[in-house]
Amino acid sequence: MAKIYYKTEEEIELIRESSLLVGKTLAEVAKIIEPGVTTLQLDKIAEEFIRDNGADPGFLGMYDFPNTLCTSLNEAVVHGIPNDKPLQNGDIISVDCGVLKNGFYGDVAYTFEVGEVSDEVKRLLEVTKECLNRAIEVAVAGNRLGDIGYAVQSHAEENGYGVVRELVGHGLGRNLHEAPEVPNYGKRGNGLTLKEGMVLAIEPMINMGVRNVIQASDGWTIVTKDNLPSAHFEHDVAIRKGKAEVLSTHKFIEEVLKNKK
Ligand code: CO
Repeated sequence: MAKIYYKTEEEIELIRESSLLVGKTLAEVAKIIEPGVTTLQLDKIAEEFIRDNGADPGFLGMYDFPNTLCTSLNEAVVHGIPNDKPLQNGDIISVDCGVLKNGFYGDVAYTFEVGEVSDEVKRLLEVTKECLNRAIEVAVAGNRLGDIGYAVQSHAEENGYGVVRELVGHGLGRNLHEAPEVPNYGKRGNGLTLKEGMVLAIEPMINMGVRNVIQASDGWTIVTKDNLPSAHFEHDVAIRKGKAEVLSTHKFIEEVLKNKK
């Protein structure tokens, strides 16, 4: 198994700084999300904001990915490539963003509503957020990776949703993707024991319908097999005793969204 890098307090502070910058970048994106805007426009705003803050986009060029943001609409789960197609009323869009600052990555995702979305879709977003929060609650030293996966899977499936298995959360630090993998499914008490100093990106990807996904013809975008919508939220957390420390925040995004209403 790949090596796990345990972080010092100083390193955790740097990851926090990077993670907070991603949250602020997504808040800038949130300001302009509306029907008619293209995902390339969102991408440009994000790249400029990141560079203005003395950091580099974390995804751009990573595994040859061409942009700053992954923008995944509706049935697209993750890894969507920004394009010049306007967003439409009723769409949902997962925006996943990474930055590299001071040698450390931050990695955060949020799924936005475009205009008015159906109650059914709103519920998918709500439950996916709850899955992330439940996962964070059990992401404490002494618990196992399976506890995190179980927390996500049980809540999603109780609500009749499918949990994507092919894509997982991950360790985070000097590398965007470090060990361990953090699956969104699992059995309580199984898997690697969580220890202080681990920093994990936890990112449930929850489908309204079946859990199965396929790769689109662009070679990047992952879409649901049944074409039903999928939601995705991500936080970066440091493993501690008693309670996980969430290094990232959706606070800036949600302030923007509240003021838009
Ligand atoms: Co991630």
